[in-house]
Amino acid sequence: MTPSPSILRLSGVSKHFGAHAALSDVDLAVEPGEILGLIGRSGAGKSTLIRCINGLERPDAGTVAIEGREIQHLSESALKPVRRRIGMVFQHFNLLANRTAAENVELPLRIADRPKAERQTRVRDLLQLVGLAGREDHYPAQLSGGQKQRVGIARALAAEPALLLSDEATSALDPETTEQILGLLADINRRLGLTILLITHEMDVVRRIAGRVVVLENGRIAESGETWAVFADPQASVTKSLLGHEATGLPPGLVLAPGPGGEALLRLDVGGENAGAPLLSELGLRFGASARLVAGGIEPVGGVPVGRLFVGLTPARPEDLEPILSHLSASTIRTEFLGHVRRAD
Ligand SMILES: Nc1ncnc2c1ncn2[C@@H]1O[C@H](COP(=O)(O)OP(=O)(O)OP(=O)(O)O)[C@@H](O)[C@H]1O
Ligand SMILES: [Mg+2]
Repeated sequence: MTPSPSILRLSGVSKHFGAHAALSDVDLAVEPGEILGLIGRSGAGKSTLIRCINGLERPDAGTVAIEGREIQHLSESALKPVRRRIGMVFQHFNLLANRTAAENVELPLRIADRPKAERQTRVRDLLQLVGLAGREDHYPAQLSGGQKQRVGIARALAAEPALLLSDEATSALDPETTEQILGLLADINRRLGLTILLITHEMDVVRRIAGRVVVLENGRIAESGETWAVFADPQASVTKSLLGHEATGLPPGLVLAPGPGGEALLRLDVGGENAGAPLLSELGLRFGASARLVAGGIEPVGGVPVGRLFVGLTPARPEDLEPILSHLSASTIRTEFLGHVRRAD
């Protein structure tokens, strides 16, 4: 059996505008059923990448394959059926103002010449799927931002795409509505097995639903990996700065005091299988040290439990600190000795 091809695969994709390299040697694969987050600052090349994927832009070099079929040389007419395999969701919804919710969702089915009875059933099912049953006859102006985006998602799903390409779909929405829309996308991904490429500049969006993340910077991939691992231990400086305060920093109320004495403050990044391990109680049993959780917690990142724990450690003897650190290093993503601390008063 041959393995099924990636839904989308970019190999060595470069795109210049004049002397400016908007994309340089980008390799990217989106596998069936996954939610991949693509994150980057303004100007990183996200929109250029999207346009290379849907054939609106031709790369100068490299290949773009959708379900195993290369598209970079296809003519406009040959691109049409390929584009139908990609459902797009936009930041500003792009609904037709003079069409109802149902008519907006029906449009791709009309374009695909589907029979009327099939269109009606499908539109009803889709609006129900996105939680808009009963709003079929509302016009966009009568819907909230979140509801408009639900229509946008239903429309993107109408032609049964292989890939849902979400371009800043939640950037125009308030945090609560963002949460609901991300929940809907995660639900559709689970229930229909739909593959999603999620383009965003918001780390929170990636954290909430993407299993893997690719970080784009100046047209190049700066870093990629499973979301929980990248978030727990970012390598590229752009990732660290996108993560902002989450990446570093002491918990409030603690200051590092120079010299030995006081508690040793450790930062432990835990994730995957070890996230729930009884790390702290073990230190008492093995080393006779006392350890207390000073700050931090465990939360799901891309579906995997990840924690950043600040631990105040008092070893039985000062020379125990080193063996304790190497013991912890073995069962955490990262163990860092930050210094000795006292509480700020
Ligand atoms: N048609 C064009 N002509 C010239 N330069 C362009 C063109 N399109 C994009 N660029 C440049 O390429 C770079 C990447 O732009 P792109 O729009 O892909 O970034 P982006 O990541 O989508 O940014 P944003 O988050 O602001 O939407 C930018 O420096 C931009 O100025
Ligand atoms: Mg853009």
